[in-house]
Amino acid sequence: MTDTEIGADMLRRLSAAWPRRATIRSHMDVLAAPREHDPHVPDYPVKFLPFAEHPDFVDAPFEKRQAVLTHAWLMYNARVITAEEQIANPTFAKIVHGVFPGSDRIEVKQAVQQAHVDETWHTYMHMMAMHHTREVRELGCEPVYPHAVTYRDLVAEQEKVSDGWHRDLLALVWTTVTEVSVNAYLELLSRDETIQPMHALVPRLHARDEAAHGSVMVEVARELYAHMSPVQQRSFGQALPKAVRAFAAQDYEAWPRILQHVGIKQATDIVEDCKRDSGNSLLVRDFSGVERLAREMDIDVALVSPTGTEI
Ligand SMILES: [Fe+2]
Ligand SMILES: [Fe+2]
Repeated sequence: MTDTEIGADMLRRLSAAWPRRATIRSHMDVLAAPREHDPHVPDYPVKFLPFAEHPDFVDAPFEKRQAVLTHAWLMYNARVITAEEQIANPTFAKIVHGVFPGSDRIEVKQAVQQAHVDETWHTYMHMMAMHHTREVRELGCEPVYPHAVTYRDLVAEQEKVSDGWHRDLLALVWTTVTEVSVNAYLELLSRDETIQPMHALVPRLHARDEAAHGSVMVEVARELYAHMSPVQQRSFGQALPKAVRAFAAQDYEAWPRILQHVGIKQATDIVEDCKRDSGNSLLVRDFSGVERLAREMDIDVALVSPTGTEI
């Protein structure tokens, strides 16, 4: 069998399993059930705050540190929703509508459209998780956040290029990286036993679908890449490490707003101290998905994988 036939066979098998696999079918009831809420259990793991060990944060009152974790959890969900709504779904629509040469096979369209349906459900899950938190924590006003760093960086890169095909290609790169890496982001919380159980369950359910999406997107990207011109292929390879950095980064524009909002003095100093320590700059540190993608596409893994190095 050729690579194309092997890929088509794999997409067919993934699509055939979708009715059994999709969490929108299997777990709608679980999410609708009311949950007990212990207000002393944190909403987000403290270890993932870039300033978790900063003395000015450690010395802050318990209630303020808990409030930071509540807003960190909301920001975590908002970042997922932005990735679904602003990055993945518009690109999925473009793939299904034939914007990128190489997407005309039904196996590609079917698998991508299924993923599009899943993403809309994921947005719903995370939106409801945020709503539940706002209710039980009786949140009033919240900080005004910038768009998530992953999306801000995509827009910044798109503003640097003048051709429409190039902007679409950048969105494809960001979507590809997001789809093969999102489980590393979800698994930050999906097995954590220190936080509200629901806050591990939602990422865990989401990750089940994304395990399939990662395989779909590797195959789809490989197919689309094979149909690109040499200039487009070079642009794709050059954009990959930028998309990886955007996906993995701590969002240093958002953290000062949270700290200020909950009334922790020295908010700016705390975050500036963290930014100076380059060991803090990445929230996601598992790049196995991107490494697999690069190998499948015959792109030098060292160019896209920041493992063990600062990117
Ligand atoms: Fe998703
Ligand atoms: Fe996905």
